Amino acid sequence: MISLKKISKVYRNDGVETVALREINFEIKKGEFVAIMGPSGSGKSTLMHILGALDSPTSGKYFLDGQDIATLNDDQLAEIRNQKIGFVFQSFNLLPRTTILKNVTLPMAYAGIDIKRRLEIAHKYIDLVGLTDRIDHLSNQLSGGQQQRVAIARSLVMDPKIILADEPTGNIASDQAESIMKIFKDLNKQGRTIVMITHEPDIAAHAKRVIYLRDGRLVKK
Ligand SMILES: Nc1ncnc2c1ncn2[C@@H]1O[C@H](COP(=O)(O)OP(=O)(O)OP(=O)(O)O)[C@@H](O)[C@H]1O
Ligand SMILES: [Mg+2]
Repeated sequence: MISLKKISKVYRNDGVETVALREINFEIKKGEFVAIMGPSGSGKSTLMHILGALDSPTSGKYFLDGQDIATLNDDQLAEIRNQKIGFVFQSFNLLPRTTILKNVTLPMAYAGIDIKRRLEIAHKYIDLVGLTDRIDHLSNQLSGGQQQRVAIARSLVMDPKIILADEPTGNIASDQAESIMKIFKDLNKQGRTIVMITHEPDIAAHAKRVIYLRDGRLVKK
């Protein structure tokens, strides 16, 4: 499903080069549950952004469902992101001063799903992450952990085949983190592929495979 061949990423800012990923090769099969671990700055978020087709590599090839991502135009990329991939960002990326309900329905509005169905689906996932009693609260009135759960609900509404989550439990108390892991495990049992960044060994232990990054390289533990 996911295949990376010699993926490298170099950031260039004002003449300063940072090599974030160095010739990464790996595959993720449909239905896998993979955790990505590694020190701060090792390239985890960069890798996740490439997997989510949000950023392109400096060199190397990324195949998603057999398709070379580099050959797609912006509209095709936007469609893949909307239809195939559920993304939970490290920084949540919620719309500020906007209700939970509106944040969660937004991807469905982009996809042109009718309003009745949008609300039905949004309620289902807001309930799943335990925020039904706050559905009309604004995103800036929520705790970090609650915002995290809104981001998770939003990532699921389009029923993506792949869920990419960058530190999905990073701001969450451990009992809540366990309930999020239960949601991920259930989604994985239903056949979704999950790739999750975490720095917590307890959280990584929920995954079936753990990948380690160090200084932009994939390493064994
Ligand atoms: N937009 C950018 N411009 C320049 N350098 C960047 C940019 N984004 C990331 N980097 C650099 O690339 C390297 C990898 O960053 P990345 O965000 O992928 O690390 P990470 O493993 O996710 O770290 P953390 O655990 O702290 O989130 C770091 O050295 C970082 O400073
Ligand atoms: Mg990161």
